[in-house]
Amino acid sequence: SEDRRIARVKELIKDYPDFPKPGILFRDIFPVLQDAKALRGLVDAIIDFIKAKCDGVEVIIGLDSRGFLFGPMISEALGISFVPIRKAGKLPGETYKVEYTLEYGTDKCEMQKESVKPGQKVVILDDLLATGGTMKAACELAEVAQAHVLCCVVVIELTDLQGRKRFKYPCHAFVQY
Ligand code: PRP
Ligand code: ADE
Ligand code: MG
Repeated sequence: SEDRRIARVKELIKDYPDFPKPGILFRDIFPVLQDAKALRGLVDAIIDFIKAKCDGVEVIIGLDSRGFLFGPMISEALGISFVPIRKAGKLPGETYKVEYTLEYGTDKCEMQKESVKPGQKVVILDDLLATGGTMKAACELAEVAQAHVLCCVVVIELTDLQGRKRFKYPCHAFVQY
């Protein structure tokens, strides 16, 4: 079923060949945020999906930094909590940490302990799924916190990279390349 809101998002996503490195086709989401009506449509589409498919969700976990663009708009509309996962060294207090692999080398991300309670139903949200390293790390942090991951939700999925194979939870993407 065709969703005009998502068709508009697809029109606005801009491609940049060879950014930030040769061979990478960068899919820029920011033009969607420049268009208030398009942003409203995207956020409403994400909210509609979560209401329909993520019954009982209690927490939206957003991933640093582009997952923060949409996460609080969605959690606020649903009347639920927003919790960030951040790159290492940014969050105060006690945190859970996990290391993850990038195309070259590794990085670390963190979530504050007690920001998610054991057994809480969560949706993990990001702008884009590429190799899946970032989302896999987020799933591991959610598991350490004993959260119940209902779904991983991304705006864009780069399907050739098969990132969704790296974690065991359902994954929904609105735009696939
Ligand atoms: C980008 C994107 C995703 C991640 C996807 O974030 O926003 O979070 O890469 O790649 P992966 O599936 O191969 O892990 P990036 O780390 O570039 O940082 P940003 O969100 O702060 O721009
Ligand atoms: N993050 C990882 N790969 C990306 C891509 N091709 N475009 C935009 N963001 C990305
Ligand atoms: Mg990111």
